[in-house]
Amino acid sequence: MSGTMIGVIGGSGVYDLDTLTDRTWVAVETPWGTPSDQILTGTLDGVPMAFLPRHGRGHVHSPSTVPYRANIDALKRLGVTDVISVSACGSFREEMAPGDFVVVDQFIDRTFAREKSFFGTGCVAHVSVAHPTCPRLGAACLAAARDAGITVHEGGTYLAMEGPQFSTLAESRMYRESWGADVIGMTNMPEAKLAREAELCYASVAMVTDYDSWHPDHGAVEITDIVRVLTGNADKARALVSRLPALLGAGRAPCPHGCDRALDHALLTAPDR
Ligand code: ADE
Repeated sequence: MSGTMIGVIGGSGVYDLDTLTDRTWVAVETPWGTPSDQILTGTLDGVPMAFLPRHGRGHVHSPSTVPYRANIDALKRLGVTDVISVSACGSFREEMAPGDFVVVDQFIDRTFAREKSFFGTGCVAHVSVAHPTCPRLGAACLAAARDAGITVHEGGTYLAMEGPQFSTLAESRMYRESWGADVIGMTNMPEAKLAREAELCYASVAMVTDYDSWHPDHGAVEITDIVRVLTGNADKARALVSRLPALLGAGRAPCPHGCDRALDHALLTAPDR
């Protein structure tokens, strides 16, 4: 059994993890460029952790310009085994109300202006993302959320849109009524796909900030409303994440779902090439 290292990618409103001890912000360079920011390393309950603010401190990267490949590769280089994504989202479901969390387990990827793979030229691989999140890690997030007293929903489909504008009313209705999406955001793709290519366990905690534009009793989504809900959500996100080391433990067995072996049957290019 080798060691667990938990990586947290913090979304809008989550720019630090003050519960870590032995805190050091480290600069990591990768062949895919510079990550969104330096990465905060430290320890919690005897488990090493790495925290990366997805948009950078000061929120300098838009969803389309986040360096997703550099972010995932930098976490991998630091030794991260398990990645928790924390991000704001809009809701397509009455019962998934602003302030609630959703541990999503499926994605519809509608992004189109981002680098989506570590593979392509010189080395070709097609990994399976049929089940894009790690059920073991998702279960830990669910347990941590419940323990922190957060209203949390188990499972859901996250529609990843390019942005930066929010959806039109027609799009919002289509995603909700025809496509069966539960929440919408701009950042979980290609992050989840890249984590799988990097053989990292990945779970996503989506924090509901608004009802997008479909809800007859709520107006069009405005960033000021989102920021208001975000502030409360960020405290809850830190409470959730801080419970994960104790739940996951320092020792790490191979992932029962094979996330850490995703490339075993995915590489097409001959290994001796
Ligand atoms: N992030 C938070 N709310 C959102 C929404 N309604 N659409 C896309 N991304 C979001």
